[in-house]
Amino acid sequence: ERADLKATLLEVNKLAAKYFYAQLKSESGKTAHEYLTDRQLSEETITAFGLGYSNKYSNDLHKYLRAKGYSDEIIVKAGLANMDEKNGIYDKFWNRVMFPIMDVNNRVIGFGGRVMGDGKPKYLNSPETPVFDKSRNLYGLNRARTSRKSYFLICEGYMDVISLHQAGFTNAVASLGTSLTAGHAALLKRYVGEVYLTYDSDEAGTKAALRAVPILKDAGVNARVIRMDPYKDPDEFIKNLGAAAFEERIGKARNGFMFSLEMLECSYDMTSPEGKTEFLREAARRLTGFEEEIERNNYIEAVAKAYHVGYEELHKLVVKTAVQSG
Ligand code: UTP
Ligand code: MN
Ligand code: MN
Ligand code: MN
Ligand code: MN
Repeated sequence: ERADLKATLLEVNKLAAKYFYAQLKSESGKTAHEYLTDRQLSEETITAFGLGYSNKYSNDLHKYLRAKGYSDEIIVKAGLANMDEKNGIYDKFWNRVMFPIMDVNNRVIGFGGRVMGDGKPKYLNSPETPVFDKSRNLYGLNRARTSRKSYFLICEGYMDVISLHQAGFTNAVASLGTSLTAGHAALLKRYVGEVYLTYDSDEAGTKAALRAVPILKDAGVNARVIRMDPYKDPDEFIKNLGAAAFEERIGKARNGFMFSLEMLECSYDMTSPEGKTEFLREAARRLTGFEEEIERNNYIEAVAKAYHVGYEELHKLVVKTAVQSG
């Protein structure tokens, strides 16, 4: 029964993706198509990611799926339509550029739909359904899994993934508008031992990177952080500076621990002896989190060097802190 439901939802999603795709290529999808080409996506990229368009003024998708024999109930369960007493059933996605979300087996599990222009919400996403678990799927993983790189690039958005793939970084994935979860980390661990976080350069992106580092570490995935400044995100970075500059940033990525210390600096007055001492106490407390001695000592060495203190002194402080915290 349940397995049947899932199979049916996947069928409906696949039909919807094909429908949106056909709309994008048709006359009614002209503006949407232009939107994507204005954003410098090639025809090849549009096709590879199966991008589409959901019509204006319509209940077209709902009608189309009914004609294919699917019930209102199934269409609503798939998250493709909403139903209420006042309006009856109506399409969820309306006049948006559509991004089908695939699982690792290339099955369509949901959609993101972007408004063209400044409307809200910017992206409307499928609700969670029996086939769409946002905390266990990553956008682009179906393609990134066959990349030859030993690490993934993790970014925030649909367009970041697509731009990166188009620029040759076919190891890019994104969490689906949520912060990175332990479920994502476990999924990543099946493919790679290392990831590079390339989140947006705003405060939200920085915070998301800081939260992701320990979650990844707990799953056995080493995290490095790439900054996109002076641009907002990988999509804009690539558009302005190109692939070679992005490659350079990859080369300059900082490890997650050192990145988190750098962010911590803002909370202390690093120019005063008291401030710097307090900062180093907190750094020592965090260093006690490395259980393996070799790893811990390597980090002590890195911190000592970065903050111009003696290795021996910092090592002593870390040992003392570890003893005190039991
Ligand atoms: P951003 O606001 O950084 O958007 O959200 P973006 O990806 O750069 O989008 P563009 O370039 O303006 O088109 C990052 C991601 O967060 C989710 C989406 O997955 C988006 O790609 N998001 C954002 C939503 O789900 N809903 C929203 O309204 C906004
Ligand atoms: Mn953002
Ligand atoms: Mn962004
Ligand atoms: Mn963007
Ligand atoms: Mn600094």
